[in-house]
Amino acid sequence: MDNSLTITVKVFRFDPAADKSGRLEQFAVASAAPLSVMALLAKVRELDATFCCRTSTCFKGRCGSCLVRVNGKDAFGCTTLVKPGETVVIEPHSRYAVLRDVVVDFSRPLAAEGEGGQ
Ligand code: FES
Repeated sequence: MDNSLTITVKVFRFDPAADKSGRLEQFAVASAAPLSVMALLAKVRELDATFCCRTSTCFKGRCGSCLVRVNGKDAFGCTTLVKPGETVVIEPHSRYAVLRDVVVDFSRPLAAEGEGGQ
């Protein structure tokens, strides 16, 4: 496959009913143009229907429903673009509890370092 027409996507996989810990799974997404992280997650879901991700709503960086971790940094999935030929690692946002794969529970924020938590 021509590398300039492919985006390599490594997504976090975790099923709490079956897994003790998460892992990265790699997919090749064909594209001649840059795609948003949210579009890439939708493509991965087309390739593997067991993959869980949110279908976001505003696509303008406003609602926050697309928050994920991209290449180690928390980011808006709708406004973060990945170019053909690149590899991207997409994981759950670091500030919320993971429900499954890259889906987090926005009602359960994790304690930030230094906040103590009990
Ligand atoms: S879809 Fe609303 S902030 Fe990304």
